[in-house]
Amino acid sequence: MGFALPTVDYEELQSRVETMNEITKALEDSSATMIGIHGLAGMGKTTLVIEAANRVQNRESKVFDVVIMANVGKILDIRKTQGQIADMLGIILQEESEYARAIRIKEKLKKEKNALIILDDVYAKIDLDMLGIPSQSPDDKQKNLLLKEGKSFSNVDQTKARQTKPMDPLL
Ligand SMILES: Nc1ncnc2c1ncn2[C@@H]1O[C@H](COP(=O)(O)OP(=O)(O)OP(=O)(O)O)[C@@H](O)[C@H]1O
Ligand SMILES: [Mg+2]
Repeated sequence: MGFALPTVDYEELQSRVETMNEITKALEDSSATMIGIHGLAGMGKTTLVIEAANRVQNRESKVFDVVIMANVGKILDIRKTQGQIADMLGIILQEESEYARAIRIKEKLKKEKNALIILDDVYAKIDLDMLGIPSQSPDDKQKNLLLKEGKSFSNVDQTKARQTKPMDPLL
């Protein structure tokens, strides 16, 4: 077994109700395979997404078999990010090369029926396949959710990401 998402202290703020609904709806919608969320620093993106994922997972019938979250940061360190993904998947990567590690992650993900993969603090377009995350799962059983700081999502746009509206200041 891998690691579960942490829990967060989530205050039910009026300014977040709409975005929370939007995100939970996208999480439940099997046709939304790529979701992008953006907003300025400190707007509560990470908190909101963790809370939304925990909410859909805590229902009687879970939406996802596995939820993975990794922090990418300004400069993508493929090896480190692969390590975070592996920890959450509950596997140990013994391979040296990034390429072989990606294959191992991909193989493990293929065994999961429904996987939610959250990549936090994405700053630029990243090659998901290089990490071991299929950019488009063949049977749409996997959902990728990217969180980005900033006013727009355009520079990390991965083909047809469904985007939520930018988040307003916390009120
Ligand atoms: N709904 C909420 N209820 C209570 N606290 C919140 C809520 N949303 C955000 N916060 C608090 O506000 C701070 C910033 O939130 P968070 O880290 O989620 O923002 P962020 O948009 O992910 O920031 P960054 O762009 O720097 O990653 C945190 O201390 C968090 O605990
Ligand atoms: Mg954040």
